[in-house]
Order: sequence, then C-alpha cells, then structure tokens
Amino acid sequence: MGKKEIKGEAISIQHVKKEFQIEKESLLVLKDINLEIEPGDIVSIIGGSGCGKSTLLRLIAGLDTPNEGQILINGKKVEKPSVDVGVLFQESRLLPWDNTEKNIAFGLPENTPKNQKQELVEKYMHMVGLDGFGKALPKQLSGGMQKRVAIARTLINRPHILLLDEPFGALDAFTKMNLQEEVVRIWKEERMTTVLVTHDIDEAIYMGNKVIIMSAKPGVVKEIIKVDLKEPRSRTSYDFEQIRLKVYKEFFGEGNIPEDYSI
Ligand SMILES: Nc1ncnc2c1ncn2[C@@H]1O[C@H](COP(=O)(O)OP(=O)(O)OP(=O)(O)O)[C@@H](O)[C@H]1O
Ligand SMILES: [Mg+2]
Repeated sequence: MGKKEIKGEAISIQHVKKEFQIEKESLLVLKDINLEIEPGDIVSIIGGSGCGKSTLLRLIAGLDTPNEGQILINGKKVEKPSVDVGVLFQESRLLPWDNTEKNIAFGLPENTPKNQKQELVEKYMHMVGLDGFGKALPKQLSGGMQKRVAIARTLINRPHILLLDEPFGALDAFTKMNLQEEVVRIWKEERMTTVLVTHDIDEAIYMGNKVIIMSAKPGVVKEIIKVDLKEPRSRTSYDFEQIRLKVYKEFFGEGNIPEDYSI
C-alpha cells in the first residue's frame, strides 16, 4: 500500500439500535445495524432523508450513544469523542473573525509548539490547495475554498478515522467533483478509514470502495454494493455505469428506474 503504513482503524458496528424521544413518542431511528469497516478503507453510505445516516455518524464519532449494541474502533468501545476521529459536517463551521491559518490551526491541541503549529498549518494549507490565502477571512473565500479550510482543519490532527456528512452538498458541480478528487487523493496518501454519507449516488460510487445502502423507518442496512473499479476511476466508464445501475435498482426497485436514466 505505498510507502506509508495504514493508520486507519477498523470500525465495527454491532447490533446498534438508536431511539429518540420526541415529546412522549419514541422514534426508532436505527434498528440492528451491523457493519464492519476495514482499517484504511473508504466507504459511502447513501439512503433517503431521515433514515438515520447522520445519527449513525454521530454514534461512530462518540457524539451520542446507542440504546443497544455497540461500536468498536480497533476493538475498543466508543464512549466519547476522540481526536483520532475527525468529522466534517455539511456546513463548514469556520470562525468568521479568524483567517485561514487560524481556522486551520483551531483543530490542533493548544499545547502544540508555535513553530510546529505554523509548519503543520502550511503543510495542510498546501495539501488542500490554499497556498497564498492564509491571511484571508472566510468571507473573502469562495464556498469551495471555505470547504477546503474545513477539510484542512479536520485533517491537521491526522485522524485515524474521517467521517464526512454530506460535505459537498451545497457546492456547484465542478467544485464538488474537484473536492471529491482531492479527498480521494488525500485518502490515498493518508489511508485513514473514511466514511462518507451522501445523497449523491455518483459521489458515493466515485469515492467509496463500497456503497452501503440504507432504507428508512426504521433505518437498516439494505444492501452493500462493492465498487470494483480500475483506478483512477472514470465517472463515464462503462463499469461505472454498471455500478450506478445496480445502485439505482436497489434504490428504486427493478423496473422503477427514473425515465431519464439510460445506459
Ligand atoms: N437529537 C434528536 N432528537 C430527536 N430526534 C432526532 C434527533 N436526531 C435525529 N432525530 C430523528 O432521527 C431521524 C434520523 O435523523 P438523521 O439526521 O440521522 O437522518 P439523515 O439520514 O441524516 O437525514 P438527512 O439525509 O436528511 O440528513 C429523523 O427522523 C430525526 O427527526
Ligand atoms: Mg443527515
């Protein structure tokens, strides 16, 4: 796997159930979720709105706890958030009064020596293609650039696990494709175990080695589709189309594929 060892950790999701209480009603959101994600793998999760994708990511991140079952990271039960688990949310959540450098450095432990901080900030700023924008405030950056700052801030701690919750949803198609490529490139370099939640079927196939399809009410894992594509992946290749068709069939059911879909 190249010159670097895999630092990604295994994620084991075992019989996870999550229920929420809204007023007096209880809402079963996740029902008996079982998933094994291998160290250093990159997988996508897709599923309709409300099927519990963000809830599942929050459980993996230790931001919430399951009612039943457990999640293990490298064999150890997740009980609270850890710096080894980086989360990138849909909104960039940058500090508006801090420039790019400060926003990226925000992810680092406070006791990091100043010169080491600067070195790391520059490294990650370069990694996400923001050289020359260190002094710019978020409002002086485009949406895509703000997203890059958020990615660098998440990566600067060198997380062993990276959780992405619809990170590119609000961006235009070109910026989106660009950032998908960048994240895959960084994943290839760093090999952190990566879980991407998305609504975008093409994004799920382009980025994931597996596409995990969830269905709703209650949220369950419906199907796992392996993405066995030649690297670098081509979104327009015949093999890509075949996987896309498989995912569509799972989603809409055989014979119910939208009319504008053709292969
Ligand atoms: N803190 C909470 N309290 C009560 N209910 C919640 C809470 N968080 C989520 N839910 C409920 O759990 C269900 C799943 O929510 P979740 O955010 O995980 O869905 P999702 O699959 O990420 O949807 P989307 O694709 O729209 O982001 C929803 O019905 C939501 O109302
Ligand atoms: Mg969500």
